Amino acid sequence: MSDKPLILMTSPDWFDVSYVINPWMRPSAWRENPERLQRASHAAHNALKTALRDAGAAVRLIQGAPGLPDMVFPANAAVVLDRRALLGRFRPPERRGEEPRFAAAFEALLREAVVDQVSRLPAGCFQEGAGDCIWDAGRGHFWAGWGQRSAREAVPAIAEFFGRDVVALELASPRFYHLDTCFCPLSGGEVLYYPPAFTPDALREIHRRVPAPQRIAAADEDAARLCVNAVCLDRTLAMAAPSPALRAELQSRGYRVAGLDLSPFVLAGGAAFCMTLRLDQTAAPALIADSMEISA
Ligand code: ARG
Repeated sequence: MSDKPLILMTSPDWFDVSYVINPWMRPSAWRENPERLQRASHAAHNALKTALRDAGAAVRLIQGAPGLPDMVFPANAAVVLDRRALLGRFRPPERRGEEPRFAAAFEALLREAVVDQVSRLPAGCFQEGAGDCIWDAGRGHFWAGWGQRSAREAVPAIAEFFGRDVVALELASPRFYHLDTCFCPLSGGEVLYYPPAFTPDALREIHRRVPAPQRIAAADEDAARLCVNAVCLDRTLAMAAPSPALRAELQSRGYRVAGLDLSPFVLAGGAAFCMTLRLDQTAAPALIADSMEISA
């Protein structure tokens, strides 16, 4: 693998909003103008792809499938780290048909040696992939959301499979049903998050691990546009267009903001992060400098 970030995306050909499994989803809005929204979703998908490529990533595209409109959100397909993939398991029956499709996509990645291992969660354990399990490269652990879609029992299963710490965060609101809708670790160590989405215990856990100067709390209006659902590649942030205040805050911290119109996908409850899945992330090897002899 090259050292470019490698990102999986699903073509939006079969995307629509035809059922309701989260409070954002509006099939009636889709039905008012399906042709226009289908065109707009292709434009939005292309804009995100271009922003990611401009930021130095390689994008690998898989096909969607008829009757599986939410397959356009591959973040929910699996948790991937160190070339090992743990396939997700969907709670809503509407999305379960995606599981064999994503499994086949990962079998292909295995044959091509993009990943070395593809595994499954224990039977009956719901876990909706990277949407609810986000790798924090700087801190060297996962953050896992539970309580809406993913189950608390997935947390030890993920920790055991990857051999990494997993910090569990209980999600308090059906509107912020996946961790990636309300929590985004940035490359410089900051965390962009939406405090009302978390239980008091989860907030305490975040505040214990992320010092105040590194916390960026999203305002209601930015959370309501799914701006927190962002992809951070080095100093670039690809996200649904933020408010001027959030843009200014991110820029003042040295980020380049690619603000995109992702509105057709917001009608399904998704935005930039969940339209992607990073395949290349690795946990940096443990720091051994202390135990090494360093001679000048
Ligand atoms: N309609 C999809 C669902 O409810 C949207 C998924 C968006 N994914 C995410 N990780 N936020 O499952």
